[in-house]
Amino acid sequence: MALLWALAANLPEHRVANIFKPLATPAQSEYNIALLVLAITGAIFVVVAALIVYTIWRFRRKPGDDSKQEPPQVYGSNQIEVAWTVIPVLIVFVLIGVSARVIAGVQNASPPPAMLKVTVIGHQWWWEVEYPDYKIVTANEIHVPAAGATYLQLQSADVIHSFWIPQLAGKMDLIPNRTNYMWIDPREPGVYLGNCAEYCGTQHANMLLRVVAHEPQEFKQWAAEQQKAAAGNAVFQSLSCVSCHAVKGTPAVGKFGPDLTHLMSRQTLGAGVIANTPENLREWVKDPQVAKPGCLMPSLKLTDEELSQVVSYLQSLK
Ligand code: CUA
Repeated sequence: MALLWALAANLPEHRVANIFKPLATPAQSEYNIALLVLAITGAIFVVVAALIVYTIWRFRRKPGDDSKQEPPQVYGSNQIEVAWTVIPVLIVFVLIGVSARVIAGVQNASPPPAMLKVTVIGHQWWWEVEYPDYKIVTANEIHVPAAGATYLQLQSADVIHSFWIPQLAGKMDLIPNRTNYMWIDPREPGVYLGNCAEYCGTQHANMLLRVVAHEPQEFKQWAAEQQKAAAGNAVFQSLSCVSCHAVKGTPAVGKFGPDLTHLMSRQTLGAGVIANTPENLREWVKDPQVAKPGCLMPSLKLTDEELSQVVSYLQSLK
């Protein structure tokens, strides 16, 4: 516990996964109803506890009372029995009523038109994140705009998981062969922490998750960069790059040219002929023969667009 607080202390206050600091519409309505339920059950607790304390005190054994006689025994009282049946039934109906209203309100709310759609697929023990409209695939971090709603489709690749970002919304299970839906609308930019909330195997506790909410403009930029790198990867794979270069963990396994797995950690390009800067990288990919005439890498005559995409992809290799 102390360790948890130490870790939490390093995070900006509202970034801590705190169910008492809702920052989105679903979380806010769930927080409100939680307070109402807490108030009702708290009142019941106070009444019952007060009656118990009063009874213990009022009917305690008094000094000098050593009579062996039983006190008068009382059986049955229609009034009391009706009261302790009807009142709890009424309270339960109130709780059911307000809960049903909030659940329906959260589930049936029609998302704003300019919404973002994201598919989240639970795996043992990580999250796959797809943006069908942007053709982007990432993992474990869900980037969304901090404006309007993001609509989530929840699926599972193996066992049942549960998606939970306490400050944004309640829990929702990810179930194999089924798609569940939920939506979130973070009110402020920032990082929202969450985790898998359904035991799913040994590393369940380390199936953490974060939602990164951006200013709308910033989100567009992020998406554009991801798209460019993804497109660059496709160009890289489809061109002859992969027959000479290797990138570990990808289909690129060529041995003729340098391994590019950690290209961005290097200071120079072309074995030292030019510094590894974004401009130089672009010029190099465009035509290596300019900086290093006679080298075995040909100019692939890429279009400007392909060139930008491939450079974005190479820049993601760190
Ligand atoms: Cu996934 Cu617990």
